[in-house]
Amino acid sequence: MCGIVAVIGSREAAPLLLEGLRQLEYRGYDSAGLATIQEVEKDGLGLLSCKRAQGKLNNLSSLVEKFGSPGHLGIGHTRWATHGKPEERNAHPQRDISGEIAVVQNGIIENHRFLRKELEAEGVSFSSETDTEVIPHLIGRELKRMQSDGGVISGSLLLTAVQNVTKELTGAYALAVVWARTPEALVVARRQAPLLIGLGEGEFLCASDTPALAGFTRTILPMEDGEVALLTPLGIELYNAEGKRQQRSPSLLTGIDHVVDKRNFRHFMLKEIHEQPDTAELWVARHLPAGLPPTSPVALPFDESFYQGIEQIQILACGTSRHAGMVGAYLLEQFAGIPTSVFYASEFRYSAPPLAPNTLTIGVTQSGETADTLAALAMEFDRRKANGDPAFASRQLGITNRVESSLARQVPNILDIGAGIEVGVAATKTFLGQLLAFYALALDFAARKKSRSSDEIISLSNELRLVPNYLRSLIHRHDQLSEQLAHRFTDTQDVIFLGRGINYPIALEGALKLKEISYIHAEGYPAGEMKHGPIALIDPRVPVISIAMPGMVFEKVLSNAQEAKARDAQLIGVAPEGPATDIFDALLPLPEVSELISPLLSVVPMQLLSYHIAAHRGLDIDQPRNLAKSVTVE
Ligand code: F6R
Repeated sequence: MCGIVAVIGSREAAPLLLEGLRQLEYRGYDSAGLATIQEVEKDGLGLLSCKRAQGKLNNLSSLVEKFGSPGHLGIGHTRWATHGKPEERNAHPQRDISGEIAVVQNGIIENHRFLRKELEAEGVSFSSETDTEVIPHLIGRELKRMQSDGGVISGSLLLTAVQNVTKELTGAYALAVVWARTPEALVVARRQAPLLIGLGEGEFLCASDTPALAGFTRTILPMEDGEVALLTPLGIELYNAEGKRQQRSPSLLTGIDHVVDKRNFRHFMLKEIHEQPDTAELWVARHLPAGLPPTSPVALPFDESFYQGIEQIQILACGTSRHAGMVGAYLLEQFAGIPTSVFYASEFRYSAPPLAPNTLTIGVTQSGETADTLAALAMEFDRRKANGDPAFASRQLGITNRVESSLARQVPNILDIGAGIEVGVAATKTFLGQLLAFYALALDFAARKKSRSSDEIISLSNELRLVPNYLRSLIHRHDQLSEQLAHRFTDTQDVIFLGRGINYPIALEGALKLKEISYIHAEGYPAGEMKHGPIALIDPRVPVISIAMPGMVFEKVLSNAQEAKARDAQLIGVAPEGPATDIFDALLPLPEVSELISPLLSVVPMQLLSYHIAAHRGLDIDQPRNLAKSVTVE
C-alpha cells in the first residue's frame, strides 16, 4: 500500500528518495511522486519542486532525470489509490494553494469531507479528489494564523502548525511535511500507521517501512502512536500527542530488510516459492532441534506465565494469514484439544463475540502492519482490560515475519516466522512460515495439556523434521508439472478448489492465489458442501481442483470429486499417485504423508499452478493490479 520516504541531510535528496521508494515498490502502488526543497537564499525562502507520475516508479524517475529536482530536503510517496483515481493530480505530494507546502500521507483522513467543505467555504480551491489534500491547506491556514499572531518563520513554527492540524484530523495516518520557507526542516507525524526515523551519517531519513531505510542506515527510531517529530540537519525533536518532548534511544535493524534481488528467477513470487524448503529448514533448526523431550517438544520463546490457564484461543487475521489461522485452529483443536475460533480481523473489530475468560488471542500478520488486524487486537486488549481480565496484558500473541513491525511493538508475545522479506504481493513462503508456527504451538500445547501421548508428539515432530526435504523435491517437480498444466487454462474463467478437514483452508488459499495473480474467478469450498449449491456452476469449462490426502476424509473427498466428474468437470487432483486417484484427468502428485502435515505440501501445487497460469497470461505477477503487500488502511 502507500509508502513514504523523507530525507534531510547533506546529499541530494531526489536520488535517495527514488531509491527508498524503489524498496517500497513491492507493497503495491499505482502512482508516485516526490517534492524537494532547494535553498536559494541563506536562511530564506527555498524553491519547492514537485514531480508526480501515474504508474510505475520509472515514470517518476524519468521526470526527475529530465527536469531535475534539486535540494537536500525532500519527501517521496508511492500511492495506492483510496480516494480518487490513480491519476497524476491525485498522486502525492499534495500542496497548498501557495504551492509552498507539500505533504505525503499514508492512511485515510476520515473527516476529510467535512474539512474540505470548511476550507472551500473559506475560498480554498482543491486540485485533487484525495483526502490528503486537506492537510497542506490546513497547515497553510494555520501557519498564516500563527504568523499574523507574531510567529516567526522557522522549523518550530512548522512543527507547531502540524501539531495543531493533526488535532483536527480523524482517522489513521502517517505523514511528512515540507515548507519552502524552512529549507532545513522536515516534520513527520503518525497515528495508527507506521513511520520510522532512520539516523544515517550526516542525514536523517523517515519511512513507512524498514526496507526503505535499510540501504542507508541500520539505526532506527520507530515513532510511537500520536508522535510528531521535527527533523533538521542538527537533530531530531520528538513530541508525543500531548506535545511533551520525548527522549528515546534508537534501536538497530536486524536481518536483511532491504529488498533483495530476484536471483535467476523470473519473478519474486517464484523465487519465494523456491525458498520454502529453507524457511522450513530454519524453522526446524530453531524450534525442533534434535533431542527435545516429548514433554517439551518445541523450543519457543515464551515463559511459563504465558501458558498459564489458557482454555481457549481466538485467531484474528486477514486474507492468506486467516487461511493459515484456519489450519492453526484445526491443529490446536484436533491435536492439542483447545477450542479455537478464527475471525476475519475486519469483522471482529466491530462484532467480537462475548468475552470468555482464559482466552489467548493470536494475531497473524506477515507484514505486522495490517490495519484491521492491529485494530482488532487493540480493541480486544482494551475490552479485556476494561472488563478486569487479570491476564489482559499478557494474553496476546502475534505471529509475524516482521519483528520491527507495529504488531511486534503492540503485542507482548511474538513468534517470528523468520522467512526473510517477501516481495511478491501474493504470500507464499510466509504462509508456510505461519503454518509452521501453528504446528509449533499445537505441539507445545498438546504436550503441556497432555492431550496427546508421547508417541503421537514424537511422531508429529519427526514428520515435521522431514518437511524441508519433502518440499525440496516437490517444488522442483511441481514447477515443471504446473507449467505444463497451465496451458490448459488459457480460456478458463472459473475454477473450483475443493478440500476437506485440514485441507479445506488450502482449497481457500488455492482459490485466493489464483484470483489475485491470474484474475481468474475461483472459489474454494469444503468438498462436502458442493452439492448444496456450488455444483450448479459445474460444466466442462470449469476445472475442479481437488485436494485428496489419505486420512479421515480421503474417500469422502474422492466421492465429492466423482460428483463433479459426473457433471463433466475437468478434474485435477492434488493427491498421492495410486489406483484410488486415477479418477483425476490430471494429477499433481504429493508424497504419502500423514493428513496432519499434508497442508505444508498441498499448498505448493496451489502456489505453482497459480504462478504458471498467471505467467502464461503474461501478467504482472509480483504486483498484481489493485493489490498491496501491506494493507495499512481499514
Ligand atoms: C494474499 C495476501 C493477502 C494477505 C493479507 C494480510 O496472497 O498476501 O491476502 O495475506 O493482506 O496480510 P498480512 O499477513 O500482512 O496481515
